Amino acid sequence: METIHRVVVGDARQLSSVDDASVELVVTSPPYPMIEMWDDLFTDLEPSIGDALESGNGRAAFEAMHAQLDQVWDELERVLVDGGIACINVGDATRTLDDSFRVYPNHARILEAFEARGFDPLPDVLWRKPTNSTAKFMGSGTLPPNAYVTLEHEYVLLFRKGGDRRSFEPGADRRYEAAFFWEERNRWFTDVWTDVRGELQALEFDGADAESDRAADLRDRSAAYPLEIPYRLISMYSAYGDTVLDPFWGTGTTTLAAMCAGRDSIGVELEETFLEVFDDRVDGVPALSRSIGRARLDRHQTFVADRRAAGKPPQYDATHYDTSVVTKMERDIRFREVTGVADLEDGAGYRLTHEPLTIDSAE
Ligand SMILES: C[S@@+](CC[C@H](N)C(=O)[O-])C[C@H]1O[C@@H](n2cnc3c(N)ncnc32)[C@H](O)[C@@H]1O
Repeated sequence: METIHRVVVGDARQLSSVDDASVELVVTSPPYPMIEMWDDLFTDLEPSIGDALESGNGRAAFEAMHAQLDQVWDELERVLVDGGIACINVGDATRTLDDSFRVYPNHARILEAFEARGFDPLPDVLWRKPTNSTAKFMGSGTLPPNAYVTLEHEYVLLFRKGGDRRSFEPGADRRYEAAFFWEERNRWFTDVWTDVRGELQALEFDGADAESDRAADLRDRSAAYPLEIPYRLISMYSAYGDTVLDPFWGTGTTTLAAMCAGRDSIGVELEETFLEVFDDRVDGVPALSRSIGRARLDRHQTFVADRRAAGKPPQYDATHYDTSVVTKMERDIRFREVTGVADLEDGAGYRLTHEPLTIDSAE
């Protein structure tokens, strides 16, 4: 099996390189409006934003920043297939402008924007991420009434494009082999994620040289999310053969996850410099895809052993792995490992070969 991963330097407000109805899943994290690190970027996109910030008009700046994101949401509506899913990771912002402190509810504004474009909101995920302790102490310290709650969560907003639901041939391999284990379903489809601690990131650098200073610096500058976030979302909402789009690509974490998950991908990023370090990350993809498959299988074996010990052994045998599973739907689950990486002929991305991960290669 082959997958194609295109990376485009460009402005996602116009996704001219992406065809209508050619994407099954969007996984992305935009620059968060009203978070200071993105002020310059938004002002470059729309100069009146800088004026609004300077004059202390937070409400106008917030709205003008979202007006830039709205143009990208318009494009997502065009490029997604009917029934395709959009997963938007975003956090709210707290900020003091003109001596006035408030929260800017990015998640609510984006929810409205997607609904206005005909998307159906789905139950979302609250991603709980601990902040450092000094950030917790906001406002009037230990005196009422002007101490502030610390934002320690972000959202993964989930939307389905209207029209027909996606349909598959009965028993389609590309869907059944992309199944997830029953216990993964229980963990992944819970509405509060407290267990995203960069475990896959640890695998990414396992055995490899430490991340270069330049890559680490770019990661900070781009507010990259942990690999676990896009990998999980891709596994939850797409099948083999699907294309995943990230219009705010940053360091390419979504593409990395799509490569490991055996899906095609497209990434669009304004800043060309982000693309330069991605080659380093791609070099590690064959080993990373193997370790991720192996980690999922290992975790499953532990789950099966625990169930057996508790006197509730899973009832079904998996087809491709020497293990049992809880539901019929999981039987054909089959991970892919990346066995080859090549540049696309036009240099604008990568062509990967994948083989089914066997128990041997998983050992
Ligand atoms: C929050 S970061 C995404 C980080 C990414 N998820 C990762 O793991 O590296 C947002 C990215 O969107 C890019 N960006 C902002 N506006 C854009 C636009 N209109 N078109 C394309 N990229 C844009 C920024 O340069 C930044 O790299």
